[in-house]
Parts: sequence; structure tokens; C-alpha cells
Amino acid sequence: MSEVVLAYSGGLDTSVCIPLLRERYSFDKVTTVLVDVGQPEEDLVRGDLRAEKLSDEHYHIDAKEEFAREYLFPLIKANGSYEGYVLGTAIARPLIAKKAVEIALEKGVKALAHGCTGRGNDQLRFEAIFRTTALDCIAPMRDLDLSREWEIDYAREHGIDVPVTKERPWSIDENLWSRSIEGGHLEDPSFEPPEEIYAWTKAPDALTPSQIVEIGFESGVPVSLDGQAMGPVELIVRLNVIGGRHGVGRTDMIEDRVLGLKARENYEHPAATILLTAHKDLERLVLSRSELRFKASVDDAWSELAYMGLLDDPLYADLNAFLDQANSRVNGFVRMKLYCGSASPVGRFSPDALYAQDMVSFDSETLSQRDAEGFSKYHGFQARLMRRKA
Ligand code: ARG
Repeated sequence: MSEVVLAYSGGLDTSVCIPLLRERYSFDKVTTVLVDVGQPEEDLVRGDLRAEKLSDEHYHIDAKEEFAREYLFPLIKANGSYEGYVLGTAIARPLIAKKAVEIALEKGVKALAHGCTGRGNDQLRFEAIFRTTALDCIAPMRDLDLSREWEIDYAREHGIDVPVTKERPWSIDENLWSRSIEGGHLEDPSFEPPEEIYAWTKAPDALTPSQIVEIGFESGVPVSLDGQAMGPVELIVRLNVIGGRHGVGRTDMIEDRVLGLKARENYEHPAATILLTAHKDLERLVLSRSELRFKASVDDAWSELAYMGLLDDPLYADLNAFLDQANSRVNGFVRMKLYCGSASPVGRFSPDALYAQDMVSFDSETLSQRDAEGFSKYHGFQARLMRRKA
């Protein structure tokens, strides 16, 4: 008997894949794996119900804690950002792929499938992990070159209730870290997104009074909210709600996909914006000037690998080793002011700060200003020499 394990999201593409894998690829058994990385509860429930109706065997895996600790913590240490995108979808794909691989190997199944199209980045991210095994790798959407219209008709014929309509054609991807909205009129980069595409954030509103949140960090990762110790899943969920009320973390951007296509992308990610801004601010207090300079290039290299889904590249582990070391002193807290769409640091403290108030102060008596005179004589020395020759 031939069997395939499908990484299943509950959406249109992966739902259509189930009958396709039987009809077009002659599999006798389709096993679906739905990985919970913080999607809305109703999507998970709907996904499970659909899978139970359509597939032969279904797994639901709660991977929120692993996602936060093993994937989002490194991202925070790396100030993860690709062209301004907080990498929510990108960083979740390798984990989803890994869970599907684990189940296939456990069951002795020889083939893996995903529902990604041939236009985006996700196919690359899934397969970078799938192909670490010798299992067959099947991508029906890409392989059969299907259009969305065709899929919708096919879904109806197979009794799959279609989650998209002509009026609300959005393709949405959600997890703890971000929510992306694509498709329909949004594909025209000059079209202003209607308010209805947003679900996590209210429109920024100057009449909503500002709010301060205090984020505590240990070794570069968030561990408390307003002085209360908190696990990462709860902390992120709470910050998404709090930040969302202030319209924090909306991004409307043109993004360069790995294949080279430019895409218009819309995202919302209140917690990610608050945490990344706070983390970067605390790093500025704690890390040396040379560490900060060098780390910016590490952050960029890390973000690019994460965007491409190349977490299996040895460079990823190398960079993480540096990030762990550099973040080992990133302890303390940052107070963030949330107001009208912005999240700004308004105070920070660290027991490891490289900050000497007694020296930098206007009223300092520790250092004599005169000591700087010798330094200033050498400063710009070569430029002065050159001009003398001109
Ligand atoms: N452009 C983003 C990325 O490549 C988000 C994509 C979300 N859409 C999707 N169909 N998965 O990570």
C-alpha cells in the first residue's frame, strides 16, 4: 500500500491536495499533519474537522512552545528582519516540515507532500527540510500548475467547503509571530489595503491613550511582562492583544522573494514589533560599539538564511553560537510606550550596561574634560595632513 504524509494547514490548497494525492498520484492512504504554531483556535478546529473528513489519518501537533523557544528566541537574538519583514511565516515553515518528516519516518512512509505553489518561498522552505531525508517529495499545486479558480471548482466537486470567496479573496497565514494577508486587489501595489484585511490590529488612533509595557529580558530573550514572569507563548499572545489595540506593527511592503519575484506583502505583528524594538534597544545599552557593528552583519546573514528556510545550513548553527554568546549579557528591562501605531522605548535598565553615568554626565567629576584634549589633537589627523599637501 502506498502512503503519503501531507503537511496540512486546513486551507484551500492543502485541502485540495488530499483528493489530488489519491486521484493523480495513486496513493492509497493520505495522512495529514496539522501543526499548531499559534493559528487562531477556530482555524485549527476547522482544519481538524476538514482533515478528519478528507484524510485517512490525521495528526494535530501543538508545537507552540517549541516554536517560541527554539525558533522565535533565536530570531529575537538576531533582531530577525528581512527587508523589514519580521519573518513570521518563514521561521515557522521549517518546524512544520520537521514535524511532518518525524511522522513519516515514525510510520515508515516513503513520501512527503506540501501544498505550496511554484511562485513563493514556502516550497523552498518545506523542501529544504523534506530533502534532508531520502523520502519522495511531492508538490501537487506546483506540479499540476493549478490555478485558484480550478482549485475552487475542484474543491466544490469534492465536497470541500471553500474558505475563500470572490468578495474576500485574501490568502492568510497566521502564527504567534505574524499574520500575513495576500491576494485579491492587494496584488496591485498601488491599491490601499481596506481596513477589513486586519484582524490583530486596530487602525492607529491618536485618541486612544498611550500605554507603557515593561519587557524583562534574560540572555537576550523576553521573560517577563510588567514585572510578572511569563513563558514566551503567553507573553507573545498578550503583547499581540495589547499592541493590537494601539495599532502597533502593521507593515505594507514590497518584498523580494527568493526566486527573484517582487511581491506586495501586508503583515501585522504587534508583539514582534514591541519585542524586537525593545531587544534592540537593550542591546545598545549592553553591547560594545564593536560588537554592535559586527552583530548587525550577523543579524543580516541570519535573517537571510531564515527567510530562505536554510536552517539546516551549517552557517545557521555557527551564527546562533555567536548570537547566544553576544546575548548572554543582554539582561534587564525596557519600558515601551505604545501610542497611535508606534512602539518606542522610553526607559531601559541593565545590570550589565556599558553605561557610566558618572562619566557621561554634564556634572561629572570623575573625569576631567581636559583629558580629551590630547585625543582631539590626533582625531582627523590624516585628513589634515592630506589637505596640507593639496
Ligand atoms: N512573503 C512571506 C514569506 O515569504 C509571507 C508569505 C505568506 N504567504 C503564504 N502563502 N505562505 O515568508
